[in-house]
Order: sequence, then C-alpha cells, then structure tokens
Amino acid sequence: MRSRTGIRLIETADAAPIAAHRVRDVEAFRPWEPAQPAEFFTPEGQAERIDGLLAGYRAGTVWPGVVLADDQVIGQITVAGILPQPHLRRGSVGYWIASVAQNQGHAGRAVELALRVMTDELGLHRAEASTSLENVASHRVLRRHGFSPYGVAHSSILLDGSWRDGLLWERILGD
Ligand SMILES: CC(C)(COP(=O)(O)OP(=O)(O)OC[C@H]1O[C@@H](n2cnc3c(N)ncnc32)[C@H](O)[C@@H]1OP(=O)(O)O)[C@@H](O)C(=O)NCCC(=O)NCCS
Repeated sequence: MRSRTGIRLIETADAAPIAAHRVRDVEAFRPWEPAQPAEFFTPEGQAERIDGLLAGYRAGTVWPGVVLADDQVIGQITVAGILPQPHLRRGSVGYWIASVAQNQGHAGRAVELALRVMTDELGLHRAEASTSLENVASHRVLRRHGFSPYGVAHSSILLDGSWRDGLLWERILGD
C-alpha cells in the first residue's frame, strides 16, 4: 500500500533521522545540494541547525518543515526568505527527499501541502523556487504543481565544486 505523505513543522527530535538520511545520501545528493561542514551530518549538528530554523520561524522569516511518509521523516521542505509585507507577500520553497523514498510522488505531494501552508497559514501571494538547470526531477515536481520557469541566475550556486546556473521558478498563489 502507498504510504501517505504529510508535512509538519520540524522538531529537535527530527535531528537524528535527518542526519542519518544525509549521511547515507551524501554521494547521491552531491550534484544537487551544496557541500556541508562535518557537523551537518551529526544529530548534534542537525539539532543546532533545527534550533536556528525554529528561531527563523518565530521571527516569521522561515517555515521549516519535514516531509513524512506515514509517520517516518523522509525529507525536508522549507519556505525560506518569507517577505510578509503587504506589497510583497512571497516566499521560496526548497526540499529534499531521501533516496530510499524517491520516485513515489512524495516531493510533489509535499510541495502541494506547502503551497497550502503558504496560502492559508502565511497569507502569501507568490511562491518562488530555484533549481539547478540540470535537476530534471525537481523541474518535473515544480511544473506538475503549477510553477513556471521565469529566468536563469547565472553562476549562482556552488555545487560539487563548480558554480552552476540556477533556474528560477514562480507560481502565483492568489490574492
Ligand atoms: C528532486 C527530488 C526532491 C524529487 O523527489 P521525489 O519524491 O522523488 O519526487 P516525485 O516522486 O514527486 O517526482 C519525481 C519526478 O521526477 C521524475 N524523475 C526522477 N528521476 C528523474 C531523472 N533522473 N530524470 C528525469 N526525471 C526524473 C519522476 O519520474 C517524477 O516525474 P513524474 O511524476 O512527472 O513522472 C529528490 O529526487 C531529491 O531530493 N533529490 C536530491 C536533492 C534535490 O535535488 N533537491 C532539490 C533541489 S532543487
């Protein structure tokens, strides 16, 4: 039976499963995720990072979520760079799904749920995202959920030792 996708706010207790996924997937993620310091791959380092994300949540600049398959943490989904001012009302969605749970539709369903949080909870008007030009799996997730590419940010992210172009995505959420 297909597992059910959920998202919820991240908690300090998520540090251990997140560190375990990121240790296992270090090679698989190398082309797509920025290099991280050694502490990123430990539960203690992740717990510290989660504290920082939750401070951002309390300040209203970040909505830091985890992705669940039934009750298991399988990834993260984050709305970052939230600009709540009435004339802006936008935020940028980022995500990863552990290799053991990929290609089952979890990222797509998590993005759909995050878009609901952005609309109903955060009152945002515009969603943005950024992928590398070569990340076709991520492009498919975004396209399937109403995002369109609107530009290229040249040499904008250092991935696997070289500066890559970023594809910029947008979706208008409503009023
Ligand atoms: C990108 C990522 C989040 C997708 O997660 P996922 O749960 O597997 O995504 P979904 O199952 O919802 O959808 C994946 C889509 O990509 C397609 N896909 C998967 N691998 C692909 C590949 N190598 N080339 C082309 N398409 C691919 C799948 O067929 C599916 O498309 P479809 O539903 O239109 O058929 C996941 O692969 C990941 O975390 N990768 C590593 C880190 C990363 O890329 N983060 C995002 C940075 S922007």
